[in-house]
Amino acid sequence: MRVAIDGPSGAGKSTIAKIVARELGYLYLDTGAMYRAVTLAALRRGLSFDGDGSSIATLAENLRIDLAPAGPNSSGPTVMVDGEPVTDQIRSPEVGRHVSLTAAIPGVRRALVRRQREIAGQGGAVLDGRDIGTAVLPEAEVKVFLTASLDERARRRLKEQLGRGFGVTFDEVRNELAERDRIDTSRQMDPLRQADDAVLLDSTGMTIEEVAAEVMKLCRQAAGRLERAEAPRAGTPETAGYPATPERKEGL
Ligand code: DC
Repeated sequence: MRVAIDGPSGAGKSTIAKIVARELGYLYLDTGAMYRAVTLAALRRGLSFDGDGSSIATLAENLRIDLAPAGPNSSGPTVMVDGEPVTDQIRSPEVGRHVSLTAAIPGVRRALVRRQREIAGQGGAVLDGRDIGTAVLPEAEVKVFLTASLDERARRRLKEQLGRGFGVTFDEVRNELAERDRIDTSRQMDPLRQADDAVLLDSTGMTIEEVAAEVMKLCRQAAGRLERAEAPRAGTPETAGYPATPERKEGL
């Protein structure tokens, strides 16, 4: 199965996606980290975020981005740009202020969406982002649109930023999130929006465990639907011997 988790910044997508991927034994891909990696590389090279963004699009085509799986003590996968680990640097307030501009450049999106589809392959993957259910994997078997109130998202993001050693205030974080929401929802190409067939989950006031349990329930339901769709084929001459429970679902 492919699990798509979309929503605005700070809604808890990556936390939930990591838990779900671990429980299912699936690969986890943080697509926001890819936009952040391109942004960091563009800032380091002094590229312009004004104009048509063509130099940043060329950078996105050619930049080497590696996402090594999360280690036992790390909070997320290690992100490498050109062979250098930049896991914390891509979370800096400066990258945060520019990343929505990077993500609005059509050439950047084309380059990264292509890579995301390659990585997600045939399934067994959990992807989080803004356009996974609408553009990257419109055929995903599970689609969740995870949201929370702006204040709750700002509180979570502030805690995360302070934990990383960045000196920021609640108002700064809240304003930055509001501005990112505005740019992400109003850009021309693949703006942030709930896919028609995505399940809306408002995590305001919910614990991480509660949200993860809800998403796991949706995964189990989707796996059941797949099994039922495949079961009648099991006995037909062309498909005799086809496993009703493919290995991909082992984690469920
Ligand atoms: O999830 P995040 O905060 O790390 O995302 C950083 C930015 O990247 C966010 O402002 C929107 C953009 N993004 C996107 O446009 N499409 C995605 N699939 C993932 C992130």
